[in-house]
Amino acid sequence: MEFLKQKVEALQQEIANIQPGNADELEAFRIKFLGTKGLVKDVFGAMKDVAPADKKDAGQLLNAFKQFAEGHYEKFKHLQGGSGQAKQAGIDLSLPGTHMPVGTRHPLRVTENEIVSIFNKIGFTVAEGPEIEDDWHNFTSLNMPADHTARDMQDTFYVAQNPDWILRTHTSSVQARVLEEGNLPVRVICPGRVYRNETISARAHCFFHQTEGLYIDKNVSFADLKQVLYYFVTEMFGSNTKVRFRPSYFPFTEPSAEMDISCTVCGGDGCNLCKHTGWVEILGCGMVHPDLLRNFGIDPEEYSGFAFGMGVERITQIKYQVNDLRLYSQNDVRFLKQFTPIQ
Ligand code: PHE
Repeated sequence: MEFLKQKVEALQQEIANIQPGNADELEAFRIKFLGTKGLVKDVFGAMKDVAPADKKDAGQLLNAFKQFAEGHYEKFKHLQGGSGQAKQAGIDLSLPGTHMPVGTRHPLRVTENEIVSIFNKIGFTVAEGPEIEDDWHNFTSLNMPADHTARDMQDTFYVAQNPDWILRTHTSSVQARVLEEGNLPVRVICPGRVYRNETISARAHCFFHQTEGLYIDKNVSFADLKQVLYYFVTEMFGSNTKVRFRPSYFPFTEPSAEMDISCTVCGGDGCNLCKHTGWVEILGCGMVHPDLLRNFGIDPEEYSGFAFGMGVERITQIKYQVNDLRLYSQNDVRFLKQFTPIQ
């Protein structure tokens, strides 16, 4: 047994002193110690000379030695970044890994997320509703009865199976659903896809995205509406952006307005984006019509509120100067990858 211990110790010492510096030296080490005719195997052969009573200890000693030799080899293999096999295959395992490209968020989602988070900060929560809507939620409850001319502004897709079903033409339908729940006050933001029967071109599409907001409480005034929208514009487009309101018409708001911001590209001097006017329209808004409140059993003498709605494509176009609506749905990776990488 003693002779075996000495032999193993000597070999261990020898191994510890070998520091293979390249693949050839490492391979030489492997052949010398771990190969089929190597020294580790050889020393195991000495078991037969060990007295039976010592066999167990000898076995443990040899196994520990084998592990030591293998560990030494693995350590240098790792340090050198790979086995001879990988090297022969032309693979250098010490190089950094291959970059796997991750996707990017869709530009419309980037914009929508930003709009939502801006309104989240001042207490608006997200409400969602179905894209296949009924007439009541999309039109009638919002002061657009069957014969109302405003329906012409929103060329509608009807669902063949049921004349009462349509693809929602705006996310105001979600506001109708929120009001129906009857919980006051209301402070919601409704992002989503909407559909209109338009011929697809650079400037129009049969589906697009809106984010609408609704705020209803006691003593809500037009000044509150302006303040909330000023805040939104400052957060979205920067504090130098100017804002103007133009009187407009929507059946569900009275008074109604459209809001323009100073052109973010030319700063108001005139360019293609603002069609040389210095202003770009970004949303429609107004004070919720008293009749609409009544439709949902809310007393307009007690409660008032405002609503606004913006096109996500429009905001994205202004932020990123995308001038063709079709790009958003063509899935061209060269276009899509220019936007925010997924974190
Ligand atoms: N729903 C309107 C549209 O789609 C936008 C809007 C919402 C206007 C709320 C005023 C108030 O055009």
